[in-house]
Amino acid sequence: MKSILDYETVSLIDEDDAIEIIDQTLLPGKIELIRLHTAKEIWDAIYLLQVRGAPAIGVTAGFGIYLLMKHSKADTFEKFMEEFSEKSDYLNSSRPTAVNLSWALKRMKEHVNKEYADYTDEISSCDSEEGKSFEKIREVLVKKMREESEKIKAEDIDVCRRIGENGLTLIKDGFGILTHCNAGQLATCKYGTATAPMYLAHERGMNIKVYCDETRPLLQGARLTAFELQSAGIDTTLLCDNMSASLMKTGAVNAIFVGCDRVAANGDAANKIGTSVVATVAKRYNVPFYVCAPTSTIDINTPTGDAINIEQRKPEEVTEMWYKERMAPEGVKVYNPAFDVTDNELITGIVTEYGVLHAPYDEAIRKVFR
Ligand code: MRU
Repeated sequence: MKSILDYETVSLIDEDDAIEIIDQTLLPGKIELIRLHTAKEIWDAIYLLQVRGAPAIGVTAGFGIYLLMKHSKADTFEKFMEEFSEKSDYLNSSRPTAVNLSWALKRMKEHVNKEYADYTDEISSCDSEEGKSFEKIREVLVKKMREESEKIKAEDIDVCRRIGENGLTLIKDGFGILTHCNAGQLATCKYGTATAPMYLAHERGMNIKVYCDETRPLLQGARLTAFELQSAGIDTTLLCDNMSASLMKTGAVNAIFVGCDRVAANGDAANKIGTSVVATVAKRYNVPFYVCAPTSTIDINTPTGDAINIEQRKPEEVTEMWYKERMAPEGVKVYNPAFDVTDNELITGIVTEYGVLHAPYDEAIRKVFR
C-alpha cells in the first residue's frame, strides 16, 4: 500500500496549469491531493497551511509565480515585470515569517531579469525580427521560469539530503531524539530538514527513538511528524508540548533536532511556537539542541531575531479548531503567535547543507555566504 512518503508534497502539473499538493489540513485521516490554479487558491493554500513548512512554501511560490505568468499578455518587458511584481507581492503576503517564500520569489525575479538580459544580448546582433518580438521573448522567459522553478524543487531535495548527512554525524546508535513541529518530508520535497538525519539513521540500520511534540495549536507534530515517521517504520512516540521537560529529565533525549523558518544573521532562529521553550529546557538538562537550516532559510539581511516578523494567527485555532465543540469561554482574549525565536546562545549547532555551524554564528554564517 502507498504510504504518505510515496506522495509528492508539491508538484507542477503543466498540462493542467496547476500546482498539486497534499492537503495537509486533512492528515493523517485522509490523504487528498488538490490542485491550485489561481493566485487566490495558491494564497489560501499557503495561508491555511494546506501546504506548509518553509521549504515547501518556497517551492510552491516558485511554481506559483511561473504559472501566474505563463499566460501573460504583456507586450513589453516593463509591463511583464510590473505584472510579475504585482503577482509576486500578492503571493508573498500569504505568510510573513518563513523567508523561503520571499527568497523563492526574489530568485525567480532575478532569474527573469538575467535571462532577459542574456536573450536580448544574444539576439541583438542577429537579423531575426521574429526573435526580437516581445511575444517571442515572453515565451522564452516563461520557459526559463519553468526551468528555474523545477530547479528550486530539485535543489530542495538535494539540500535536505545533505543536511541529513551532516546531521547524521551528530547521532549515535541508540539515541533518543526530540523534535518539535514538522520539519519533515511534508515540509519539504523529500527527507525534511530536521527529520533528514533521522531518515538516514533509520535507512542505515541505526536504532533510534524519536519523540514528537504534538505542537499546539495546529498539531503539526501529532498530525504530520508522527504520521510520516511512523510510516517510515521509525520508533515514534508522541507527547504533548508541556511534557518535554519531564521527558528530558529522565535522560531519554540525547539530542534535539528542529527546523526553522528564518535564521537571522546572528544565528537567532525563528521556528514554530514552543521551540524556544524546548531549547531553554534542553539547556537546563544539557541536551544538545540543533537547528536544521538550508541556506535558503538564512536571512543575512535580518540582523537579529528581534527583527523577524512573527505571524499572528486567528484565535479560533486555539479555542475551537480540532475540538468537537469550542472549549474556551466565549470572548476570552487569545495570544496566538505562530512562531517564536530561539536565542542563538541556546543553539548547539546549525546544521546546513554545507556543514554544522557553531557559535559565534555571525562569523560562521558570513563565512558560508562568502
Ligand atoms: O506553520 P508551519 O507548519 O508552516 O511551521 C513550520 C515550521 O515551523 C517548520 O519547523 C519550519 O518551517 C521548517 S520546515 C523544514
